[in-house]
Amino acid sequence: MDLIERIQQLKTQRNAVILAHNYQVGPVQDSADYTGDSLGLSIQASKTDADVIVFCGVHFMAETAAILSPQKTILLPEQHAGCPMADMIDAAQLADLKAKHPDALVVTYVNSSAEVKALSDYCCTSSNAVAVVASLPAERQIIFVPDRNLGAFVMERTGREMILWPGYCPTHVWIEPEALEATKAAHPDAVVLAHPECTAGVRAMADELLSTGQMLNFIPKSDAKTFIIATEMGIVHSLKKMYPDREFVVASKRAVCPNMKKISLEKILWSLEDMQHHITVPKAVASRAKRALERMIEIVPK
Ligand code: 13P
Ligand code: SF4
Repeated sequence: MDLIERIQQLKTQRNAVILAHNYQVGPVQDSADYTGDSLGLSIQASKTDADVIVFCGVHFMAETAAILSPQKTILLPEQHAGCPMADMIDAAQLADLKAKHPDALVVTYVNSSAEVKALSDYCCTSSNAVAVVASLPAERQIIFVPDRNLGAFVMERTGREMILWPGYCPTHVWIEPEALEATKAAHPDAVVLAHPECTAGVRAMADELLSTGQMLNFIPKSDAKTFIIATEMGIVHSLKKMYPDREFVVASKRAVCPNMKKISLEKILWSLEDMQHHITVPKAVASRAKRALERMIEIVPK
């Protein structure tokens, strides 16, 4: 029996589903029941009937699933798949910031720890951050953590001033305006799709600023033949598979998230065999974080 068959057999035995983020390696995306962006994965995790979720992504994503579905077993096939941006703020730092701005509402990017979410009023992902902030009362101050780039993008789109934390995604920072400039020069008719985690210079050169899920949905709405993709390059696997008649060029070959690449088919199999690594969140933290996450899921972007 080959690897895929063995995974399928164990999935049935355990009543498990495999959820994979768009940045996972191709074979992992292909083995998944659902592939998507952070918001899509959170929604899937909250509504699946499966007893076990094998989460092919990074730690905060599995933790989010554990918060939303405490009765399910959430497995992360690689326990060291973290997100450096999520580690750029901890609960003590957010508590300090809140103490300095006691009247502010806290909007936290889902790329954060459960403890940080527990201190937040709202969570958001890159696909609904603008909608979440736009829904807040105009007279309230807003603290936005941890991504300063997504935060700046939200300020531009909503016209709201926010108190930003200086976090960032190291992978998206590798996409430099100079590299994008050169890629554009080589493909003058291409449409540039960039993730809002990109730096201001890259964002300014983009035709569209989209989450990974929004990028996948955008292609059929455009007549362009070629697209330059300014985000982690794993998404090109899905783009090519879904739209074989279009051309996708990466903005920078350095845009690789090493943590997203730690999961393989072998690790999915071992995860199902040994029921490892089981991600749990202490009840008191989970119940407070869940409020912020549920508010996020309710606000669907237009
Ligand atoms: P998306 O929500 O757009 O999939 O982004 C998640 C992420 O980690 C981007 O770096
Ligand atoms: Fe975190 Fe960046 Fe990797 Fe996304 S791409 S998981 S934000 S390090």
